[in-house]
Amino acid sequence: MCGIIGYVGNKKASNILINGLLALEYRGYDSAGIATLENNEIKIMKDKGRVRNILDLDGYKELQGTYGIAHTRWATHGKPSKENSHPHMDNSNTFTVVHNGIIENYNELRSFLTDNGYTFYSQTDTEVIPNLIHYYFKKIDQEDTDYNNKTNSFENKTNVGNENNYKDKVLEAVVKATNDLKGSYAIEVISPLIPDTIIVARKDSPLVIGTKSDENYVASDIPALLTYTKDFYLLDDNEFAIITNDSISFYNKDLEKYTKEIKNIEWDASSAEKNGYDDFMLKEIFEQPNSVRETIGSRLKLNEACNFDDLEITSEYLKSINKIFIVACGTAMHAGLVGKVLLEKLCKIPVEVDIASEFRYRDPIIDDKTLCIYVSQSGETADTIAALKLAKSKCAKTLAISNVIGSSITREADYTIYTHAGPEIAVASTKAYTSQVVLFAILAIHFSELLGYDNTDITINPDGKTIKLYDIKKDILELPKKISMILEDTSLIKKFADEAYTQKDMFFLGRGVDQTVALEGSLKLKEISYIHSEAYASGELKHGPIALIENGIHVISILTDPSLAKKSISNIQEVITRGAKTMVITNQDLENTNFDYIYKIPETNPLISPILSVIPLQLLAYYISKNKGLDVDKPRNLAKSVTVE
Ligand code: AGP
Repeated sequence: MCGIIGYVGNKKASNILINGLLALEYRGYDSAGIATLENNEIKIMKDKGRVRNILDLDGYKELQGTYGIAHTRWATHGKPSKENSHPHMDNSNTFTVVHNGIIENYNELRSFLTDNGYTFYSQTDTEVIPNLIHYYFKKIDQEDTDYNNKTNSFENKTNVGNENNYKDKVLEAVVKATNDLKGSYAIEVISPLIPDTIIVARKDSPLVIGTKSDENYVASDIPALLTYTKDFYLLDDNEFAIITNDSISFYNKDLEKYTKEIKNIEWDASSAEKNGYDDFMLKEIFEQPNSVRETIGSRLKLNEACNFDDLEITSEYLKSINKIFIVACGTAMHAGLVGKVLLEKLCKIPVEVDIASEFRYRDPIIDDKTLCIYVSQSGETADTIAALKLAKSKCAKTLAISNVIGSSITREADYTIYTHAGPEIAVASTKAYTSQVVLFAILAIHFSELLGYDNTDITINPDGKTIKLYDIKKDILELPKKISMILEDTSLIKKFADEAYTQKDMFFLGRGVDQTVALEGSLKLKEISYIHSEAYASGELKHGPIALIENGIHVISILTDPSLAKKSISNIQEVITRGAKTMVITNQDLENTNFDYIYKIPETNPLISPILSVIPLQLLAYYISKNKGLDVDKPRNLAKSVTVE
């Protein structure tokens, strides 16, 4: 989705703005632009296409301004074009704005402004914002007793001095303009009236301010600024800030000034770089032994109760609830499907998993006896945040699982626990998924301990096999080593990818928890290789989809639960009989089979096997995408952080 960068300091702003936009490229975009101010004049360079195109625009090299704003646009209202690219200006060229989010009532506001003499030059929803600011600024300024003395200066766009007075007025105009906006926004505003200053505002769209002595930065996410600073202010909804090189002042909607706490973000700048890998996705796949290890952290030790000091959920509360919802989107929702299996098995509480965009509009049955868990790598997914707010309004307790410290979802939820996967840059989520699943496993053990099941025999599969929490703890602690073992030799996956990349359709099959991994494998393949694929519960195939199986189609089956192995093998035979080429990802010793490929992964408890079985599927999608010569990290039409619904 769209990205925002801002800089106020003493260095040439254009370089910093471009570098910031390049760091945000992974979010997905189709146009880019920057604005700086020098000699009381705003200079805008923007166009559709890549950020680097800006470097070739006339006048770019001459830009000398030491502050400015910048934007990458992911088209929503109006096609990608120069006119629709940000920054946008008001009709008098006094206010320049970049905006992330969607203004839902922009048609209404456009009519209102048109009736008041304003003209629009783009098809965007954003263009109403600078014009509304101008509309309110004029009103506020007119009310000022010495308005007439200043009017000439204002309309002539010269520096009129008395900057503090203007800062107050521009801030008031921004607040009034945002009061009229319905929808979501993170905005930056600059104006010749308030040199060396950026005003920012946010509602339901992320915005952070990175701070250093003598220079300050703005961005829509933290990794974009990690090379400059680790100290951040995280703007909340309905907050405003006036930023100069050496000051940041925060205001609420009533224009009351207050202070905010700085958050130190421990992420390493190099973790947001490729470090010799061809693509971020490959790097992130290979980081999984470490990201899983970091997420386990000090929460899980073999002979101790799990450590969730940061989570104030008590055994009394857990005993009082009768249902858990897990709500998320995409890959995070797939992690939630494994979470459901873990929580139901280890805690015996019914769990429902919902897609956030459905949950928020389907009037789910929730009350104070429901715990709602929201999973989001970015913590900024609009549907997931809205679904969380809905549950809160119905008196349920909410728990966020996120990878980004201080992200919107964590600020809305009653409780938060973090995965420690480090920044995930590639659009296709990999290490976030395995971290989410391992955190679900530890959380389920923790809840189970709180419920008093420490020494109970837990039946994990249909053959009646039982385990104790101790057994699963042991298996979790061995996961990083086992992931490394899988990553040591990727040649078989490469070989299969070399054969499969010309396919038009593929199938992913599995039973039980393996079916949830099939869904994730299929999503990965679609996202980055643009090959159509279907994921099905193996037993469901013959109820319809088997009609699609024809000679030569590639079918990938996941088989990690010994108690379901025989059933799954029969289902694989059904597709082989109809001409399918098969690859089976398994931890079982499958002898005398007629499968084309068997990809062996280390054995582990079936409840946590997705953390291992998903890795060959991530690699498969990656190698197929590479074989097709596609942009793995920035697949078409997709955005890393989906901040609009
Ligand atoms: C995963 O590969 C996708 N890019 C996507 O499904 C993603 O998981 C989804 O948009 C949710 O994102 P979140 O975890 O940041 O909320």
